[in-house]
Amino acid sequence: MSLAAFPEAVHVRAPGKINVYLGVGGRHDDGYHALATVFQAVSLYEDVIARDADDFTVSVVGVADPDTVPVDDRNLAMRAAKMLASATGYTGGVHLELRKSVPVAGGMGGGSADAAAALVACDALWGTGLSPHRLHELAARLGADVPFALHGGTAVGTGRGDQLNPALARGRFDWVLVPSDEGLSTPEVYARLDAHRAENGALADDPPLSLDVPIPVLQALRAGDPHSLAACMFNDLEAPALLERPALDDIINEGLHAGALSGIVSGSGPTVAFLCETPESAQYVQSELMDAGRTALHVHGPVPGARIMSA
Ligand code: C5P
Repeated sequence: MSLAAFPEAVHVRAPGKINVYLGVGGRHDDGYHALATVFQAVSLYEDVIARDADDFTVSVVGVADPDTVPVDDRNLAMRAAKMLASATGYTGGVHLELRKSVPVAGGMGGGSADAAAALVACDALWGTGLSPHRLHELAARLGADVPFALHGGTAVGTGRGDQLNPALARGRFDWVLVPSDEGLSTPEVYARLDAHRAENGALADDPPLSLDVPIPVLQALRAGDPHSLAACMFNDLEAPALLERPALDDIINEGLHAGALSGIVSGSGPTVAFLCETPESAQYVQSELMDAGRTALHVHGPVPGARIMSA
């Protein structure tokens, strides 16, 4: 029998997400906004490899500009590992290698996917064996989108986006993503929304703190019908993201012109997500956008949440 009870390295993969629907309500006292959202996990992944170490370190692979991803305590994966250690009394450390594919600060939850993957990887590496419920609790403390990256699939998020209920989704949805070279700050996009609402007198004084996802969105997902879903996709953060980055409007128009059913800013942006009718039409939209000089990625959803690839 081997003396090595636990693996030397654990590789976990976690998906990026698109908010198929994102309704933003009022701001709570803690600064977070009430949300009613539908997440869909898509086939663009963060890979995290956790290796035994004496202290806590992070390295990053796969980003054009390394300065855009901190490797200190600002890094959400680092925070996840430290939070798990303190919650379980684990006294060692870990080295986390982040192999990134989800655009940095792109509105697709890449940092949240890193954190979810780090939780799962360290839990396996250290043999701390937390229940899914405890992992979810830690995830929610790390950030509003982290529980969904653990969970994956298609889910309704309420509260800050961290209270999840699975949504039925039939078949597969084909998306074309257009990332931008430069990210957008999520807090700034929310602040822009608040300012915009205040200027327009709408919602600013009494925004609802409890919201619902419209039934047609859930019906379209359940039916697996991209046409119906395209007709009711919506994002309250799209207007403030367009105010911050007006050029996104051109990208949306190019994708629609190429035949996408609908185009939407993903989360707080700036990534634009186009819903397409079939895998073939998505390939066509992707190639048209690339011919126009854009970076365009064809992905599909839903896909599973954070899972161990090897240990
Ligand atoms: O939870 P996370 O760290 O991903 O959130 C980043 C920022 O986005 C928050 O600090 C807050 O400014 C904004 N946010 C919000 N309401 C939410 C989720 C995020 O205002 N429900």
